[in-house]
Amino acid sequence: MTSTRSKGIAILGSTGSIGTNTLEVVRKSRGAFKAVALAAGNNAVALARQIEEFRPEFVSVGAEAAAIELKRTHGAACKIGFGPAGAAEAASYDGVDMTVSAIMGAAGLLPTMAAIEAGKDVAIANKETLVMAGPLMMAAALNAGVRLLPVDSEHSAIFQSLAGHRRSDVKRVILTASGGPFLDAPLAELRSVTPEAAVRHPRWSMGRKISIDSATLMNKGLEVIEARWLFGLEPRELSVCIHPQSVVHSMVEYIDGSFMAQLSAPDMKGPISYALSYPERLECGARPLTLAGLRLDFSDPDPQRFPCLGLAYGALEAGGAAPAVLNAADEVAVEAFLSGALPFTGIYELISRVLERHTQGAVSSIGDVLEADRWAREEAGRLVSRQTL
Ligand SMILES: NC(=O)c1ccc[n+]([C@@H]2O[C@H](COP(=O)([O-])OP(=O)(O)OC[C@H]3O[C@@H](n4cnc5c(N)ncnc54)[C@H](OP(=O)(O)O)[C@@H]3O)[C@@H](O)[C@H]2O)c1
Repeated sequence: MTSTRSKGIAILGSTGSIGTNTLEVVRKSRGAFKAVALAAGNNAVALARQIEEFRPEFVSVGAEAAAIELKRTHGAACKIGFGPAGAAEAASYDGVDMTVSAIMGAAGLLPTMAAIEAGKDVAIANKETLVMAGPLMMAAALNAGVRLLPVDSEHSAIFQSLAGHRRSDVKRVILTASGGPFLDAPLAELRSVTPEAAVRHPRWSMGRKISIDSATLMNKGLEVIEARWLFGLEPRELSVCIHPQSVVHSMVEYIDGSFMAQLSAPDMKGPISYALSYPERLECGARPLTLAGLRLDFSDPDPQRFPCLGLAYGALEAGGAAPAVLNAADEVAVEAFLSGALPFTGIYELISRVLERHTQGAVSSIGDVLEADRWAREEAGRLVSRQTL
C-alpha cells in the first residue's frame, strides 16, 4: 500500500471462515491493515483470543451474558458491546475505513446498512444481504458515496474481468460453480445424504450454511442475484456453468467472442486481500496455483440435480420481496436439514412451497424486507413442523 497509515478494518463475523481468513490477511499485511473493530456471534472464546492478538478498539459478541464475561476478562483491552446494536457499532466504528461484512445470513443486513450509512466502504462476503435488499443497499451506497467491493471469489473474478472494459461490450457473465459434493452422486440417493456428507465441500473450507448451499447450488443462485445488483446486470446476462476444479472463479464474455477470466487456487485470502487493498495487490499468503498438469472442465448445470438454481432465477425475475423470501426460506431449510428435521431434497421442496405461498409485492424500505423475511421464516417453520416434506 502507498499510504503509511494502516487502513482501519471492521470485521463482522470475525470468528467465522471469512472472518478468520480476513484476520490472516491482516496478519500477513505487515501493518497495511489494522483490525479496529470485530463482531462475533456465540464464539466468545475465539473472540477473546482475537482481542489478545489483534488489540481491536471495540468488539461485539452475540449475547449480553457473554459480553459481561468478556468485560470481566478483557474489559481493560477494548470496549465491548453485544447483539445487533453491538454489531452495528462495530460496523460503523470511528477509525474504520472499510467494513468486512461476513456475518452469516440475514443477521448481517442491519450492521451492513449501518456501515454504509456511516460512510464506510464495505467488502461484502455476506451475499444474503444483497439478495434480500440489493436495490436498497446499492442506492444507500450511492447516496453515501461508499464502495461495495466483492469478497465472494466469483464476484471478485467478475470485478477483475470487467476492469478496463466498456459495459456495453459485455455479452454475458458466467459464474462458475464446483457442483459441490454430490455432482456425480446417483439422483436417487440425494434424498438420504447426511449433513456430514453435505458439508464436506470438495474444494473449499467454509461455514456450514454456505457449504450446504453449495451442495444444492442455491449458493450459485444467491450469487446470481448478488451479481445482478453489484454489477447492474440483467438476469439474461447472467449464466452459470459447472467447473469442478474451482480454478476459474468466473468469466466475462465480450461481444467479439473474447472471454476474460480470473484464475487462482481456491483460497479465500486472495479475493479478501484484493477487496481490502483495491486497487493495489498485496502478498497475502494465498496458495499458489500450479499450471503444469492443470485440467479445467466445464459443463452446464443439470436442473434435475440442482433445482434450487431455478428457484433463485425465478425469485430474481419476480423481484420485490421474492428474493428475501427465497433467502429466508433457504436459511430455515438448511438449518432444518442440518438438525435432521428435513431430508436433503426437502430443502428445495420447502423453499418452493414458501415461494408459492408468498403474495407480498414491492419493497420500498428495509422494514418491508424484514417483514418479508419474518413472514417467510414463520411459513417455512410451520411447514417443517408439519413434517410433510
Ligand atoms: N466461507 C467462504 O469461503 C465464503 C465465500 C464467499 C462468501 N461467503 C459468505 O460469507 C458469509 C460468512 O460465511 P462463513 O463461511 O464465514 O460463515 P461461518 O463460518 O458460519 O461464520 C459466520 C460468522 O458470523 C457470525 N455470526 C452469525 N450470526 C451472528 C449474529 N447474529 N451476530 C453477529 N455475528 C454472527 C459467526 O459468529 P460465531 O461463530 O461467533 O457464532 C461467525 O463469525 C456468508 O454470507 C457466506 O455466504 C463465505
